[in-house]
Amino acid sequence: MPALTDTFTLSNGVTIPKIGFGTWQIPDGPETYDSVRAALDAGYRHIDTARAYGNEASVRRAVRDSGIDRDEIFITTKCPAEVKDADGARHALERSLALLDLGRIDLYLIHAPWPWNAQGSDHRAGNIEVWKVFEEAYESGSTRAIGVSNFVVADLESLIDATDVVPHANQIRWFVGNTQPETTAYSKEHDILVEGYSPLATGRLLDNPDIKGIAEKYGKSVAQVSIRYLLQKDILPLPKSTTPSRIVENADVDFELSADDVAALDALDAGE
Ligand code: A2P
Repeated sequence: MPALTDTFTLSNGVTIPKIGFGTWQIPDGPETYDSVRAALDAGYRHIDTARAYGNEASVRRAVRDSGIDRDEIFITTKCPAEVKDADGARHALERSLALLDLGRIDLYLIHAPWPWNAQGSDHRAGNIEVWKVFEEAYESGSTRAIGVSNFVVADLESLIDATDVVPHANQIRWFVGNTQPETTAYSKEHDILVEGYSPLATGRLLDNPDIKGIAEKYGKSVAQVSIRYLLQKDILPLPKSTTPSRIVENADVDFELSADDVAALDALDAGE
């Protein structure tokens, strides 16, 4: 399916498959192993994990056992949100490299601008310190690209002003009704690829009658329309499922939403 093999190109020239398989909230062990295997069998070539998900080792086993050439698979992982100093960042990177054990990482992200238990707190200095370790890792080839997650404009600005490498990607919560217009516009202006996690609002969009109405016109599911919407906005979707048939369905998005339907989706408030 073209959507799985088409790529976005990061500002440093590295290509990244347009749909990634998200593994947030998939437990380590058979659940992660089986769903990543199902995704790879379905043709996904981009897997998104994180140290905090605790499932990197299962991702490694699934990638290894798939028999697919490592160079054909794009792997993202993340430095825990709680890590805001250089030593911690070095340690976290080593841990992820060891657990994934797949050679280099393809994209390494700061998981959030603040620890999860202190959302909104100011860690500008700490993020800059961590980012300098990321720049070293990028220069040394431990990772082919570096980026951030959950950053808003102020977080991006303070990082860009104080460091050399502009993030290659910003992974944010992005779905119909929650399109983060300011952060998205700022990221695009700075050639930062926007990746959207929870493109189905962790499942809450699935019953949305307005999206259902649009989906019926195309003979597609609500999930497919919701994922397609991101692609038409040049946002990289990271759908997550542990159900093989849905994993296939979520990548079967090679259709075109009309400009009118995109505008109708733009206008939807999904209750966020
Ligand atoms: P499951 O893993 O049981 O298949 P998001 O990508 O926004 O985080 O949403 C993930 C949630 O949506 C999961 O609960 C997942 O359930 C469900 N889901 C994923 N794809 C589909 C689909 N095509 N149809 C229905 N539910 C889906």
